[in-house]
Amino acid sequence: MSLAGKIALITGAGRGIGAATARRLAAEGATVLANDLDESAFQVTQSIKATGGKSQSLVADILAPEAPAQLVEQAINECGTPDILVHCAGFTADDLLEAMDEVQWSSMLDIHLSVPFRLAQALWPHWKAQALEAVPRQQSVSPRKFIVISSVAALFGNAGQANYGAAKAGSEGLIRTLAREGGPYNILANAVRFGSIDTRLTAIREDQRKGGPGLGIVQQRRFAAQTALRRIGTVEEASGAIYFLASDDSNYVTGQTLEVSGGLLGIFS
Ligand SMILES: NC(=O)c1ccc[n+]([C@@H]2O[C@H](COP(=O)([O-])OP(=O)(O)OC[C@H]3O[C@@H](n4cnc5c(N)ncnc54)[C@H](O)[C@@H]3O)[C@@H](O)[C@H]2O)c1
Repeated sequence: MSLAGKIALITGAGRGIGAATARRLAAEGATVLANDLDESAFQVTQSIKATGGKSQSLVADILAPEAPAQLVEQAINECGTPDILVHCAGFTADDLLEAMDEVQWSSMLDIHLSVPFRLAQALWPHWKAQALEAVPRQQSVSPRKFIVISSVAALFGNAGQANYGAAKAGSEGLIRTLAREGGPYNILANAVRFGSIDTRLTAIREDQRKGGPGLGIVQQRRFAAQTALRRIGTVEEASGAIYFLASDDSNYVTGQTLEVSGGLLGIFS
């Protein structure tokens, strides 16, 4: 129970990597505030409670510009200031460059880059205040963890994902500055850069199964054949890396991107 007493706010916690992370952090003793668009958040909360964990669902479309601030306020009012934030809410909008429209472009920048920016803006005043309050009492504030999810598309590019790759690369840049600004207040910011993890997001869609273009997220699945481990990852393996960054085992790790890809070792792999 290494996260006993901690509060973790997880976006996109209803499915995939977010749901596995919710279950893992709850199993380690954290109170998990599970956000998602729909009743999936409620289902994850129920499954955590059924195994003796603590959890509450916060249903909201995190893309609404005011939603990140509202979500943080709701979390604080109902449970207390989160110690851990994991932004897992996400989707893709793949197309070749010349076919990609403005909505596809901007939706990726919104969900993968602007939303974590807004979540950080909402949390920072509370987290800084906690640190400043601790100083006169000569107590050190416990580390607060801000974690975003990136993709190997940020590093290697991926045909059909100019929007997604750019947004994910931006999120890796974002956490480096958050780490610098947050460091003096013991706020740590990191990213996990996943390769191919077995979720709804990477499931092969019917049109692609029938010989569609094989772009974007389908291509990402093909990355798996090039990994040292020669397979895609499970959501439990994905959540293990997020747990590491959320736990006290990583209290001297900040501004980093941890790649969890089964060993995508470049052209020689
Ligand atoms: N699966 C992979 O291989 C992989 C690889 C690299 C990065 N990622 C990233 O991991 C994150 C999670 O993806 P996943 O594979 O678990 O996908 P998923 O589809 O299984 O889960 C994503 C969850 O986010 C929720 N969501 C989407 N938009 C939302 C919104 N506006 N507000 C609230 N919730 C919203 C969805 O409802 C869903 O429950 C994403 O950022 C994705 O880009 C995934």
